Amino acid sequence: MRTQVAIVGGGPAGLLLSHLLHLHGIDSVVLERHSQEYVQHRVRAGVLEQGTADLLREAGVGDRMLREGDVHDGVHLQFDEERLRIPFRELTGRGITVYGQQEVVRDLVERRRRDDGQVLFEVADVGVHDVTTDRPFVRFTHEGVERELRADFVAGCDGFHGVCRDTIPAGTRTVYERVHPFGWLGVLASVAPSSGELIYANHANGFALHSMRSAEVSRFYLQCAPDEPLDEWPDERIWAELRTRLGTPGWTLHDGPITDKTVTAMRSFVAEPLRHGRLFLAGDSAHIVPPTGAKGLNLAVSDVDRLADAVATYHRTGSTTGLDGYSAACLQRVWRVQNFSWWMTSLTHHFGGPDAAFERRLQRAQFDYLRTSTAAATTLAENYVGLPLR
Ligand code: FAD
Ligand code: DHB
Repeated sequence: MRTQVAIVGGGPAGLLLSHLLHLHGIDSVVLERHSQEYVQHRVRAGVLEQGTADLLREAGVGDRMLREGDVHDGVHLQFDEERLRIPFRELTGRGITVYGQQEVVRDLVERRRRDDGQVLFEVADVGVHDVTTDRPFVRFTHEGVERELRADFVAGCDGFHGVCRDTIPAGTRTVYERVHPFGWLGVLASVAPSSGELIYANHANGFALHSMRSAEVSRFYLQCAPDEPLDEWPDERIWAELRTRLGTPGWTLHDGPITDKTVTAMRSFVAEPLRHGRLFLAGDSAHIVPPTGAKGLNLAVSDVDRLADAVATYHRTGSTTGLDGYSAACLQRVWRVQNFSWWMTSLTHHFGGPDAAFERRLQRAQFDYLRTSTAAATTLAENYVGLPLR
């Protein structure tokens, strides 16, 4: 088999890259390890930056998002029982769209199918070869048959646990990492949201987040141990803890049937550079941020927007300027977003060290500053809605 760009991984990064390349008239094949059913039902992100939503709309894959997604003009921060609204729209003129990642994935798969794009699900034994020559290829197994896909370029969009990053020799890449001493217990519930906008709460018991997916489905997260056993969290305990951490006078949290529970450990991670020969990393394969700033999916979108443009320019003009500058340009945004995600995390979580009381006083001071300073609130707002893509 031959194509112009071989894309490993059919998450948001790989599928969107394939679609954007198609809009430029460039062929690609997406190789995904899991089934279509699995990738379309994996519950993950829910917040799209303004730039992400605009890009999806402009690329012609935003119709359902525009119909079913919910545009929010602000977010709530809470310290103990005191709730503070950060009015994004007023401060920045921009907002966010609440729309599930699995819906974005579904829209992209459907559109790739309609355009006769090639997305192969349930591939195994993927190996990336000869990326430092001008004839790279990917070997894999599909439907029991070993195959080879030759391409001009290989895009490693295979997430944090993929194989592409490790193809880059250890001596030519640098890894920066911070593992956080907690995780998130994520919960999906069939109940109308109890708030019109997200609530990020810092309570003496730890962090809690109230998010949503639709008028009938709510999404919650609770700070927990990184290896927290799920069976210690029966539904009643989850609701009681959410009520405690999110509670504020005059406000009621509505409960309902819980349909999904997961624990996610939290880390900050960057592997530099994002390019090795004709292999380009994009999304979680190259970087992970703690989810507090709602940035992972948005960062993946920003990478592939740049990569599609660089590949298209190369095919149109022969210029390698975009490809050569890809890694450095992405890393600039990656580190800005790492900083914001760490800051949002350190403002709202308990790290539990010997200076925990000191830490909480610092968090209180930052919260008070956000309440009293338009400059502080604007800094949060402009990062949360997302800095311009390019
Ligand atoms: P992935 O979504 O991980 O996709 C990679 C794909 O590659 C997968 O489908 C995988 O099956 C496939 N793959 C892996 N290995 C191979 C292989 N060897 N061969 C073939 N295929 C392979 N981000 C936000 O922006 N906003 C949020 O609100 C937010 N909330 C989050 C909440 C949680 C609980 C979690 C866990 C994450 C959250 N994120 C959020 C992060 C976001 O989900 C990720 O950053 C995003 O999925 C990255 O997309 P990706 O395509 O790079 O990687
Ligand atoms: C969601 C996830 C996040 O990480 C976040 O910061 C906000 C919302 C969500 O899944 O809805």
